[in-house]
Amino acid sequence: MRLILLGPPGAGKGTQAKHIVDRYSIPQLSTGDMLREAVAAGTETGKRAKAVMDEGKLVSDEIVNAIVSERLDRDDCANGFILDGYPRTLEQADALEAMLADKGMELNCVLELEVDDDAMVDRVAGRFTCGRCGEGYHDPNKMPRVADKCDRCGATGSFVRRADDNAQTMRTRLRAYYKETAPLVGYYHAKGKLKQVDGMGNIDEVAGAVGAVLEAAS
Ligand code: AP5
Repeated sequence: MRLILLGPPGAGKGTQAKHIVDRYSIPQLSTGDMLREAVAAGTETGKRAKAVMDEGKLVSDEIVNAIVSERLDRDDCANGFILDGYPRTLEQADALEAMLADKGMELNCVLELEVDDDAMVDRVAGRFTCGRCGEGYHDPNKMPRVADKCDRCGATGSFVRRADDNAQTMRTRLRAYYKETAPLVGYYHAKGKLKQVDGMGNIDEVAGAVGAVLEAAS
């Protein structure tokens, strides 16, 4: 299964990607996570990306295309992958097409999660993750079973919030989405690859709908 998850910030791409990873045993390639790791590691790429990400703008196509191309060459992508947050511009979509052709790979499906703007802002405002294992939570939609303790790894006092999850940056991220990324819906529709899922249900309802679409596409 070679899949792109498309949708605005907070639509639930990362959340649904985790379900798909478990079901198909393929890796989630999140360009946002890769860039945040580069920032945390203080690499040259991370230094170039940090200020842009803090503002909610898009990192350059050149940087992101290079990261993805290198990542697709790793062995764990041989049976498929989930691209989460990439491509995000028409230039990136063209670059991806060229790199997949070069690597002898073909996309199965582009899945768009459709969510109202107000819900996205709520989802992003309530998001927090475990700094140790990366498990994602949401206040109030997905709280840990024991306060301040991660359900998955048991760490306490480890919850963190993203620097770009604030109202001002969220407005910039939404603008960037509608201007730069939304045209990809038409791009992939014209290629016959686009599937759309209503992302407004609860996490399990959306996972069920996503699972049904992927079953039909595989
Ligand atoms: P990135 O990390 O990709 O952020 P994003 O696209 O803004 O997406 P999010 O991670 O915010 O949202 P999501 O859809 O994954 O939602 P989630 O599942 O967490 O990018 C960050 C930055 O990096 C960009 O702004 C840019 O600067 C840079 N960047 C990254 N890729 C780039 C690229 N290709 N080109 C250029 N720059 C790039 O869910 C959100 C919350 O809602 C969670 O708390 C979750 O628990 C909750 N939730 C999820 N689903 C539901 C549901 N159905 N009901 C209720 N709550 C739900």
